[in-house]
Amino acid sequence: MDNECFTRQLFIKINEDNLAIFRCCYFTNYEENCQHIKFSELPESDEEFEKLINEKARIKPSTFRDLIPRVEKHCNVSCNLCYSEEPAMVMIHHFGCNLRCIMCAAGPIKPTEEMKKVHTRVLKVFKDVPLLFTTQQGEPFLEKKLIFELLENKKEGKIISTSNLTLLNDNDIEKLAQYKGKFSLISSIDSVSESIYCTMRTPANSNIYHKVISNFEKLASYGLIQENNITITQWNLDLEDLEKTFNWAKNLGVDTKFGVDSGNLKLLNDPVVLTLKEKYPNNWRI
Ligand SMILES: C[S@@+](CC[C@H](N)C(=O)[O-])C[C@H]1O[C@@H](n2cnc3c(N)ncnc32)[C@H](O)[C@@H]1O
Ligand code: SF4
Repeated sequence: MDNECFTRQLFIKINEDNLAIFRCCYFTNYEENCQHIKFSELPESDEEFEKLINEKARIKPSTFRDLIPRVEKHCNVSCNLCYSEEPAMVMIHHFGCNLRCIMCAAGPIKPTEEMKKVHTRVLKVFKDVPLLFTTQQGEPFLEKKLIFELLENKKEGKIISTSNLTLLNDNDIEKLAQYKGKFSLISSIDSVSESIYCTMRTPANSNIYHKVISNFEKLASYGLIQENNITITQWNLDLEDLEKTFNWAKNLGVDTKFGVDSGNLKLLNDPVVLTLKEKYPNNWRI
């Protein structure tokens, strides 16, 4: 996926009463190519549901191709994948979460049963895309049973889940290890200092903190963590602490990706962030 165009990423956002489906890249705006389907318009039968979602997921030439001259003007990759219909990667936004992290929009939104049901159906439609991200906002292991079911039935491609690691027990980890190669995790430990971790990942307490650290160590020993995300916010903006977390993961064989709180883009110019960028230029998520 490394050299492939982001226009092949399909985003599915599950809102309160509708699904938003869009393809976008750095140079296009999602609203320009976004299609909404109201829950009330979704067919009951799984077959019809799959047909409808697949049809919407393909690039609509009439809308997307109009955007291509702009992409070509800015994009220096020229892979022409803008023209391809099949998504290479599907990211699902769901918003349900067991935590209420201080920088995240997912926490306060409680998904309804209907949203969860639609999420389950959408995940099944895309189970065989080359890369499936179970949830970009929200905690995928709230639907643990579904993830194991997807893994069991997945014939091709890979499932990646970004997770806070709070909901996994030893039994789950051993089961996940059986799917190595088909499954990997991106963990989100923004600090190995208990006090900073608990301040950011509310309402985490000492037990949750220790469980997450221990889960990370076990998962890393199985080679199941492809990277650790550190989201830099005003609460962990401390060079020493950020490097301590970076090195802790590295010693367990896991690379780090830094990103700044999207609600506080001023952080991009903070001296700590600038120093980290200089020292670790390849460890940033976009
Ligand atoms: C939204 S979470 C969803 C998956 C899972 N619940 C987790 O925490 O890993 C995905 C990633 O987005 C990061 N994130 C949350 N809020 C953010 C924000 N305001 N700006 C940038 N990244 C953010 C999280 O730290 C996490 O690494
Ligand atoms: S655990 Fe993930 S999705 Fe949940 S509130 Fe925290 S960052 Fe957001």
